[in-house]
Amino acid sequence: MSANNALHIAVLAGDGIGPEVMAPALEMLRKIEAKSDLKFRFTEAPAGANHYRETGKSMPDSTIRLCEEADAILLGACGLPSVRYPDNTEIMPQVELRFHFDLYAGVRPARLIPGVPSPIVRADQRGIDLVVIRESTEGLFASMGKGVVTHEEARETLVITRKTSERLFEFSFRLAERRKARGRVNGGLTCVDKANVFKAFAFFREMFDEAAQRHPEVKTDRLYVDACSAMLVKRPWDFDVMVMENMFGDILSDMTAGLIGGMGMAPSADIGDRYAVFQPCHGTAPDIMGQGKANPTGMILSAAMMLDWLADKHGLESAAEAGETIERAVDKAYADGIKPIEFGGRNGTADITKAVLAAL
Ligand SMILES: NC(=O)c1ccc[n+]([C@@H]2O[C@H](COP(=O)([O-])OP(=O)(O)OC[C@H]3O[C@@H](n4cnc5c(N)ncnc54)[C@H](O)[C@@H]3O)[C@@H](O)[C@H]2O)c1
Repeated sequence: MSANNALHIAVLAGDGIGPEVMAPALEMLRKIEAKSDLKFRFTEAPAGANHYRETGKSMPDSTIRLCEEADAILLGACGLPSVRYPDNTEIMPQVELRFHFDLYAGVRPARLIPGVPSPIVRADQRGIDLVVIRESTEGLFASMGKGVVTHEEARETLVITRKTSERLFEFSFRLAERRKARGRVNGGLTCVDKANVFKAFAFFREMFDEAAQRHPEVKTDRLYVDACSAMLVKRPWDFDVMVMENMFGDILSDMTAGLIGGMGMAPSADIGDRYAVFQPCHGTAPDIMGQGKANPTGMILSAAMMLDWLADKHGLESAAEAGETIERAVDKAYADGIKPIEFGGRNGTADITKAVLAAL
């Protein structure tokens, strides 16, 4: 925190709809500033495909330095399918930041906001309120940029380490405990893996079982990722916190975003022991960029998650309250009838922003 007690936020708006949804999130934080004792200092910095196109780098060193100095990092989606490295992969500063800052816990809540249509029958009555924790620094992604491709074959190596898994499970059990303390009944933690086929996942599950012994008060379950996918579609209300390897979490968290209305509804945080990045689950949506159609809800809720994390880190009760205030304002906007274009409604970025700001 800087001398005047302002929370310093690094703002990396990214590409495509990234800047379009970042602006509403900053408006929410400015309004919070006006009605609470919290102060923010925002510093914007470049990252992403457009920056690569101009400079040949995914982000300048100054962006990394800013992120090191800031209290938290707000990130818009990055990458454009048309901008690629010579090896044909995309520009992904969001993944580089996870490695650089050791952000092992990718936290992806999927809460069905009342009034938002879910593709799942009866979800409006049963509710959906789960969190996918995606390990974010290793797993299959450890191979990023290191895969070996010849004319005949391609190899990518999955890595699971004890150091990261133990911290990941501790984080996951603590989150399950916090949700229980906040009133979640019938909650618990599910380990999602493929331990029936791969030794690496048997190792992952063994470490989960060890952690479970240290947290006997949390109900635990273990599921194979394939069976888990079917269960998530049939009865998502049975899940609370779920923890899994990077690639499985990449895929399942997009699916759980679909369960709660769409990509634009889903917030996320990448959290390490010291740093954290807050960014919606969605990508840069090139198909709708520049048209005012992007749903800013996931980005706004990511800013609320940032406030909750800052509250925990600095013991700032008012930041926790501010995070909850933003969540309640989002709920009210939807209860009052906001319907994003994303799921067949008529409301674009400006309408949704206006409705949430009014509810704040
Ligand atoms: N974290 C990130 O920065 C991140 C994550 C995923 C994809 N990407 C990048 O984004 C680009 C596009 O990827 P993609 O098409 O696979 O995924 P995407 O999430 O950008 O889009 C998938 C679909 O969801 C819709 N959508 C996404 N966010 C929305 C929002 N806020 N409001 C309304 N509709 C929304 C899009 O219009 C599209 O139809 C790629 O370059 C990819 O690498 C970045």
